[in-house]
Amino acid sequence: MNQRIEDRTRRTKWFMHDRFGMFIHWGLYSIPARGEWVRSVEQMSVEDYQPFFEEFDPTDYKPEEWAKLAKEAGMKYAVLTTKHHDGFCLFDSQLTDYKSTNTPCHRDLVREYVDAFRKEGIKIGFYYSLLDWHHPDFPHYGDRNHPERNNPAWKGVQHNFDNYIQYMQGQVRELLTNYGKIDIMWFDFSYPGMECETWHATELVNLARSLQPGLIIDNRLEGSGEKSGSIRTKNPTVYAGDFACPEQMIPPEGVTDVDGDPIPWEACITLNDNWGYCAKDHHYKSSRMIIRNLVECVSKGGNLIVNVGPNAKGQIPEPQQKILRDVGRWMRDNSASVYGCGKADFAKPEWGRYTQNGKKLYAHVYEETMGNICLPGLAGKIDHCRLLKDGSEVFVSKYWNVAEYPNDAFLSFDKNGVLTFPLPDENDTVIEVTLK
Ligand code: GLC
Repeated sequence: MNQRIEDRTRRTKWFMHDRFGMFIHWGLYSIPARGEWVRSVEQMSVEDYQPFFEEFDPTDYKPEEWAKLAKEAGMKYAVLTTKHHDGFCLFDSQLTDYKSTNTPCHRDLVREYVDAFRKEGIKIGFYYSLLDWHHPDFPHYGDRNHPERNNPAWKGVQHNFDNYIQYMQGQVRELLTNYGKIDIMWFDFSYPGMECETWHATELVNLARSLQPGLIIDNRLEGSGEKSGSIRTKNPTVYAGDFACPEQMIPPEGVTDVDGDPIPWEACITLNDNWGYCAKDHHYKSSRMIIRNLVECVSKGGNLIVNVGPNAKGQIPEPQQKILRDVGRWMRDNSASVYGCGKADFAKPEWGRYTQNGKKLYAHVYEETMGNICLPGLAGKIDHCRLLKDGSEVFVSKYWNVAEYPNDAFLSFDKNGVLTFPLPDENDTVIEVTLK
């Protein structure tokens, strides 16, 4: 097998086991509170955006609380925006003045995040934007995304992209040197003309790995939510990344390479419709939907990272906390059907999903069934079944009306083989099926 693929498989072992992470999008944009792209969407100048820098003071920032919430939700790793596209750094970089320590808050927010999450045993990830709308040497006029892309005053203004590359390398060096062991580096993102070696990607990846040998890296030095890049081939580049990251969707069959073989992947999704805090966005997914999205990813061999968008005070909005706590309640009883699990040996059942970990097949029952719960093709293959949440017996039915389906197994919640509803957990009732 290709050495790079082998290394990737080894590096991502913990990641593919842990399955569930917390994404955190936080920065100056939490003050205008119209999402993290606000500067670009509204084509604001640096000066227009400056008041938020002058004023940024998240007095309620208590990363210990964020970390506790992540832990309670069952999340095993976290990824924080150390710098988003607006270029504002949440860490005390020696290479710029545009950083949290120069705002009224005077804190290295990244350091506090790292300390708090590490203390809870949560693995540490850094999101780092390849785009930078503040740095003078990043392409501006005519760029696809830059806030000044249409501003004639910027036409012909020279910039030296090599300076930007040096800046970026310097910051990656800072992030991967000054904060202890870092588990994930989440670069974001490439677009036509700004991809791969434009970022000096080989150098950047070699630098990152020299500083943090175990580090896993996403695939956006080459790709984006729109395209995965050579990670989907049998011959990935140095900078192809360790995992693919579909955005705001879960691929129909999970993510595979061109031959249909599985590759590591993680779907990233928001709780409402924005990554960065958006005061008016109340379009929240239900905790049930998040639970089922997580199970969906695992059933297709992938991970889920769910975003929170803290506000200008440093609080994770109440509705987001509530969803994650509800997810946590389910996870407390059912996480064995998530951690270490993946795609099952059996096809997706009509009433829900399967996940599997060796001899343990987890039946995630979403829909009440008419009659016994049918597990197609499983007759004679089951040793015993338990309700995962309390360990109570679930019965393989021998009820008279299933006699004509000898290849299939049928389950019920009572010994006489008739009770299948109401389901004990309307979010997702998990039956642990131990295979022979
Ligand atoms: C994007 C966006 C962004 C967000 C990210 C998360 O590509 O530009 O704002 O940080 O994806 O996946």
